[in-house]
Amino acid sequence: PVATAGLIERYREWLPVAEGDPVVSLGEGSTPLVHAPVLSELIDGEVWIKVEGANPTGSFKDRGMTVAVSRAAAEGAKAVVCASTGNTSASAAAYACRAGMRPVVLLPAGRIARGKLAQAIVHGAEIVQVDGNFDDCLTVARKLAEAYPVALVNSVNPDRIEGQKTAAFEVVDVLGDAPDLHLLPVGNAGNVTAYWRGYRQYAEQGISTRSPRMWGFQAAGAAPLVLGHPVLDPETVATAIRIGNPASAEQALAAREESGGRFESVTDDQILDAQAFLASREGIFVEPASASGVAGLMALHAAGEVDRGLQVVITVTGNGLKDIDTALSRHTVGATTVEADVHQVAEVCGLTR
Ligand code: F0G
Repeated sequence: PVATAGLIERYREWLPVAEGDPVVSLGEGSTPLVHAPVLSELIDGEVWIKVEGANPTGSFKDRGMTVAVSRAAAEGAKAVVCASTGNTSASAAAYACRAGMRPVVLLPAGRIARGKLAQAIVHGAEIVQVDGNFDDCLTVARKLAEAYPVALVNSVNPDRIEGQKTAAFEVVDVLGDAPDLHLLPVGNAGNVTAYWRGYRQYAEQGISTRSPRMWGFQAAGAAPLVLGHPVLDPETVATAIRIGNPASAEQALAAREESGGRFESVTDDQILDAQAFLASREGIFVEPASASGVAGLMALHAAGEVDRGLQVVITVTGNGLKDIDTALSRHTVGATTVEADVHQVAEVCGLTR
C-alpha cells in the first residue's frame, strides 16, 4: 500500500479493476492544476496547466501504467515489454519492479533523453537499443508480445488508455466542469484519445455539462496527423514525440472530429521557446515535448485564432529534469566564482543598498 490514494483507489468504478484485484500503485495521479497568470493575460482568458511531471516517475505514463501492470499482475504475467521514446519505459520499469515482474524496454538507439535512460537502468530494466525509430520499436514489441509470454504495456493496450483518461476526470473534479479548450502534445496519440474518453464519460454521466474542444500539437518534423500521412523519418528535438506513425491515429482523429478540435504542428524553436517561457515566467519546468501545447497556444494566439475569455487547460506531460541536456544546451551556466564574501556576491548580483 501507499499512503496517498492512487488512481485505481480514487476512480475504481471507472476503471477495469474489480474490488479484490491486485493493485500496483506508486500513488500516481492527483497532479497539480496550476493557474498560469502570464499565459492567461496573454490570451485574455483563463489558462490552467495540468502538471503531469508531478507523477511518481515524472510523466503522465504512470496513470496508464498502474492500470496496465495491475491487470497484467491479475493475469499472472511475469514480464512486461514496451517500445518507448523514454517515458513509457521509465514508467513500465518502475511499475514492473513494484509488481515483481521483469521489464523489457525497446528504445530507439541513442535517441532518448538521458534522465529517462537513467530511470530504465536504475529500475533494472532489460534495455534493448534498437537500430531504428520508435515506430520500428513498437512493431517489434507487438510481435514479441504475440509470440512470447510478455505483456505489452504500450498505449495500444486498452488498459493504458483507461488509466490515462483519469486526468480528464481530475480536471473536471477541480474546475467543477470541463474547460472550453484542452491542449496537449500528440505523439503516438494515446493521451489525446484517453482525455477525450474521460471527458466524454463524465459528460455522459452528467458529472460535467460539456466537453472541451481538443487541440493537439505535434512537432513539425514529426506531424503525421497534421499532414494526413505517416512520416518515415520523424525528426525533432522533442524526442518524446519523435513518432511518424501513431498507433492511436484513428481514435485521435475521431477525438478531433467529435470535439470540434484541431491538430497543428509547432517547430522545434517554438517548442524550446515555450519551454523557456513556462520555466522563466510561470515557474514550471517541463521537458521539450511537454511544452508543445503551450507553444501551440502561443502560436495560434499570435495568429489571432484564440477567442478571448476562454477557459483553457494545457497538459504538460513530463518533468523538465528528464532531459537536462537539451535544456542546458541553450544556456551558458554563470562561470563567475567569487570568494565567500557578502560584498563580492552583492557586486556580482548587481545589488545596491
Ligand atoms: N509528452 C511526453 C513527455 C511523452 O513522453 C509522450 C509520449 C507524449 C507527450 C505523447 O503522448 O504518445 O500518448 O500521444 N511518449 C511515449 C513514450 C511515446 O514512449 O514515452 P502520446
